[in-house]
Amino acid sequence: MAVRLNHTIVAARDRDASARFLAEMLGLPAPVVLGHFAGVRVGDTTLDFMDVQEYRDGATEIASQHYAFLVSEIEFDAIFARIRERGLAYWADPGRTKPGQINAWDDGRGVYFEDPNGHLLEAITRPYGSGGTAASHPHPLVAHRLMSPERGTATHRDPST
Ligand SMILES: [Fe+2]
Repeated sequence: MAVRLNHTIVAARDRDASARFLAEMLGLPAPVVLGHFAGVRVGDTTLDFMDVQEYRDGATEIASQHYAFLVSEIEFDAIFARIRERGLAYWADPGRTKPGQINAWDDGRGVYFEDPNGHLLEAITRPYGSGGTAASHPHPLVAHRLMSPERGTATHRDPST
């Protein structure tokens, strides 16, 4: 049997509100509460939101994590519309230097936005590097490798290496 990621815990200030936010933003079924978790199913995996005080033994600080979701073009349209309807900040890049923009990496579309806990969420229509170097807009990680002389230049055509 292939190994699949079954679940992961996401620290939250308000687990129910946070789980609802993710489900609503991505257009997924409502969260399911199981013990101290409010779980949002994403494919094979459940993102189990848990109040940080319980998860981290009284801690209130949340370390920002990053969660990226591969979506269809139609789903991207819906997600991006919800971002704008809610007036959420969004960026084209993980460093948040390009506010109010989306990217076209790998000739798809990508956008970054935050959940209520400061976790950085990303919706993409193409996996990183899937456009290779032939894309009109190669993923910057692939492009960087291409332009990096110490790693070899045009010989790197396979983004998976
Ligand atoms: Fe990412």
